[in-house]
Amino acid sequence: MRSAGNSGPVASPWPRPRRDADYRETHVSRTVAILGATGQVGRSMLAILEERGFPCASVRALASPGSAGKSLDFRGGTIPVEAIGPDSFAGCEIALFAVKNPLAQQWSPVARAAGAVVIDNSSAYRYVDEIPLVVPEVNGELLDSRPTLVANPNCSAAPVVMALAALRPLGRLRKLVVSTYQSVSGAGSAALDALEAGVVAGLGGRRPPPLADGRPPYAFNCIPHIDRFEDNGYTREEMKVVWETRKILGMPGLPVSVTAVRVPVRIGHSASVHAYFDRPVLPEDAREAWAAFPGIEVQDDPATAVYPMPLDVAGRDPVVVGRARVDLAEENGLAFFLVSDNLRKGAALNAVQIAERWLGAGKNAS
Ligand SMILES: NC(=O)c1ccc[n+]([C@@H]2O[C@H](COP(=O)([O-])OP(=O)(O)OC[C@H]3O[C@@H](n4cnc5c(N)ncnc54)[C@H](OP(=O)(O)O)[C@@H]3O)[C@@H](O)[C@H]2O)c1
Repeated sequence: MRSAGNSGPVASPWPRPRRDADYRETHVSRTVAILGATGQVGRSMLAILEERGFPCASVRALASPGSAGKSLDFRGGTIPVEAIGPDSFAGCEIALFAVKNPLAQQWSPVARAAGAVVIDNSSAYRYVDEIPLVVPEVNGELLDSRPTLVANPNCSAAPVVMALAALRPLGRLRKLVVSTYQSVSGAGSAALDALEAGVVAGLGGRRPPPLADGRPPYAFNCIPHIDRFEDNGYTREEMKVVWETRKILGMPGLPVSVTAVRVPVRIGHSASVHAYFDRPVLPEDAREAWAAFPGIEVQDDPATAVYPMPLDVAGRDPVVVGRARVDLAEENGLAFFLVSDNLRKGAALNAVQIAERWLGAGKNAS
């Protein structure tokens, strides 16, 4: 596994946030900070904290100085957006990060020094061996050691590992080929604006304009290029799915090959998965295993046009799996299709589930 440069873990000097199990309280006075609260993921975090009744008294919404003075809806009222600063995490026990890598690297030491556990949505720490990369339903036990920095996985990797983890009782995975169809919200708020502008142009009979940086438009297009190209000809987005699938499943040698494509969908990442095992894994057994796995919903009745689609999963929590069939290219292969809301299970929901499990306070606590 690669290491992310100088961003290695620092274990002992950090103050440890407390767990609910340590304190028998009837009133939870906890403060949660969201860094990047005004973005796609940050706004979803706020909504999910509210929906799930997360045990906190207040949320501190942090963003760039340009957003200071704005407000965000929360629990029937509003909370002010504050510009991030050195004192932003004072008194916070949990810091949910939804900003780009350099900002995560700049502010995570500050948050941890203030006593907060940092749950980071960027990829800054995911490939550092010592930092847990967690999907609670799959490897949530890594939170039992109370790490003060936890990495949240890539928005395509998280649903793929959910589906694969459910199949573990049926056979040992030996090879994986994945193609993703990723929505534009995965690239942030500005990308969604560009999609909408491009759709308007296209419907007006004009060619959608290129993006501000000259890259091809999202509207009426499929773009086999997400994040930068690596020396091996794969994009970094594709390699994220390779590295993260191996790390989360605990299979460092698993052969994995990925193609990641941006499609003109607002919300919801899809993936076509071809998984090869050490024995036959039948579609009917796979459907049964998925249906029994927490966080997975099966939609698989092609005769009535029931299968996973982004339009149906946007705004919902589960990873939806279907189109299970025997792979025709190689023996012991299973082909299937899955979809999840990239802002939820692919980002904000998974981060909140990590916080819940960390605290021993939530729906995934065990
Ligand atoms: N979108 C997804 O599906 C997804 C999934 C998994 C992981 N992620 C990761 O999550 C992170 C956030 O993604 P996003 O899609 O939510 O991006 P986004 O919509 O573009 O939001 C970016 C957030 O960062 C804040 N920000 C920008 N510059 C800042 C600064 N100098 N100081 C403090 N805050 C600053 C923005 O605040 P202002 O509004 O004030 O500019 C905004 O709240 C990224 O690392 C991304 O790779 C995203």
